[in-house]
Amino acid sequence: MQNTSRHIEQEVSPSQNFAIIGDSEAMTRLKKIIRRVAESKADTVFIHGESGSGKELAARAIHEWSDHPADPFVEINCASIPENLLESELFGYEKGAFTDAKERKLGLFEIAGRGTVFLDEIGEMPAKLQAKLLRVMECRRFKRVGGTRDIDFLGRIVAATHRHLEEEIHNGSFRADLFYRLNVVPIVVPPLRDRRGDIPALVDFLLTKTSAALGVAKPEVSTDAMYDLAKCSWPGNVRELKNILQRTLIFHQPRLITPDMLELEAIESRASSHDAGYLQSPGSGALSHPVSSTVALAGASRLASSKEIFLLPTGGIDLEDLEKSMLVQALERSRFNQTKAARLLHVTRHTLRYRLEKFGLLSGTV
Ligand SMILES: Nc1ncnc2c1ncn2[C@@H]1O[C@H](COP(=O)(O)OP(=O)(O)OP(=O)(O)O)[C@@H](O)[C@H]1O
Ligand SMILES: [Mg+2]
Repeated sequence: MQNTSRHIEQEVSPSQNFAIIGDSEAMTRLKKIIRRVAESKADTVFIHGESGSGKELAARAIHEWSDHPADPFVEINCASIPENLLESELFGYEKGAFTDAKERKLGLFEIAGRGTVFLDEIGEMPAKLQAKLLRVMECRRFKRVGGTRDIDFLGRIVAATHRHLEEEIHNGSFRADLFYRLNVVPIVVPPLRDRRGDIPALVDFLLTKTSAALGVAKPEVSTDAMYDLAKCSWPGNVRELKNILQRTLIFHQPRLITPDMLELEAIESRASSHDAGYLQSPGSGALSHPVSSTVALAGASRLASSKEIFLLPTGGIDLEDLEKSMLVQALERSRFNQTKAARLLHVTRHTLRYRLEKFGLLSGTV
């Protein structure tokens, strides 16, 4: 496999710690947005994305590119801490505020200084704390638990969720006003199946990191194995890809990774509700990284001969035009019914809506 270290060096943030790998159109756009938001005065950023897609990585990159990278990046997972502890973790407490409060304790909003408070899984935040958080965002001030003095918050809040919070708002478990305040600067991290072109570069990067961590030699990846990795739907996104590679290194210590070592069938069957296409999602899923070109050719010809889906014309095609044309045809054939159009294109309704929105085709559909 071709060495991509030059490519990776260009991707790292200033501290060289948080490389965001991927030069698909979707990731290039995402990285530009991250950089622009990080350098802006935006005091709140809201990151949406499926589990394992890279939300925390995006949050850390925003911090690293901010004006205050040397200040703390503090994080808390709102889903994993009981309500009473979450409040004191966020805001701190005064001595004597409750029985066990023997000393004053600073909360994350105070510890962060001008840095970043990363609120992961914000959809799980209890209602009472949602109200308090909204106050911090609006007044840029908070009180320690048991305290009376207002303390200024000078940093940035980055929140993340893998849930569709609109549904939580609808059923009353998430405040609409907090959602709209958070969502002023939304960032969407696309699922890995919508940017399969990034997979070869990610595989190379993750193998470099994981083999170094495990103290083993970095293996090569056979063309067939790379084809299978690029074709997989990855419902657990980059984290799942990383775990599979790690498992393969531990169990096989291979010099060459071959398809039989990867055991991707279980992932595929779990992902059957997702978009399982390869050439079916050409616009965002086309292999684009230089490392991937041989794999793309090998994969495409194999797929074309086995399923006769598309044969690339000699002069090539414009993938964006092709995607748009497929979307329009599916909409027309389904009389603009999204569920039926999604079925025709073998993608989920959510994926279809994402793509229709990308081409400005969403209005007029049902
Ligand atoms: N584009 C990328 N380049 C390099 N590594 C990545 C990329 N995206 C994700 N990763 C790696 O994949 C793993 C999962 O990413 P991360 O923790 O940021 O996902 P997440 O969206 O926060 O997941 P969850 O919803 O489960 O909390 C991490 O080890 C991260 O470094
Ligand atoms: Mg996370």
